[in-house]
Amino acid sequence: MTDPLYRLIYHSSSRMVGADDDLDGALRAILAASRRNNLDVGVTGALMFTARCFVQVLEGPRAEVERLFQKIKRDERHGGVALVSFGPVAERAFPHWSMAFVGGPALEARFEAFARETGYEPARMSGDLTLGFLQSVLRAREGDAQASDGRLAG
Ligand SMILES: Cc1cc2nc3c(=O)[nH]c(=O)nc-3n(C[C@H](O)[C@H](O)[C@H](O)COP(=O)(O)O)c2cc1C
Repeated sequence: MTDPLYRLIYHSSSRMVGADDDLDGALRAILAASRRNNLDVGVTGALMFTARCFVQVLEGPRAEVERLFQKIKRDERHGGVALVSFGPVAERAFPHWSMAFVGGPALEARFEAFARETGYEPARMSGDLTLGFLQSVLRAREGDAQASDGRLAG
């Protein structure tokens, strides 16, 4: 029997400090680890970073998602990790990404507009709203080669 697919969404506050360059390097390290490790355990997902907070979606076999979340929670680059939703799903929302990254200046503008339209606030959001937002940002970026790091073949 195959392990059922689970989706976990959390948000957290960034504890990363420093100049833009340092932040960039720290983010790259997180994404590199995600892309190195997640595929091995069948996890895919997306990570949003907006200067103050992270929002991450992890999708994969339940045990692997839970194990990874326990590890991520202990990471000192963020704190105040709060679970938004966790449960079984029929299919992956980000099947083509080991860890899609949603961030940078292009996101900030979209994020402000989306927050104004929907009242979306990372700390008080629903999982569905979060998922919809991340998917819309990634769709808008399709074809942008620079933004496709971590995209899986096929
Ligand atoms: C916001 C955030 C998200 C992260 N997401 C992942 C992830 O999806 N996969 C992963 O392996 N590590 C992730 N990490 C990093 C882990 O906490 C840990 O540093 C890393 O997995 C260690 O990798 P290694 O065992 O290959 O050295 C994340 C860290 C932070 C702060």
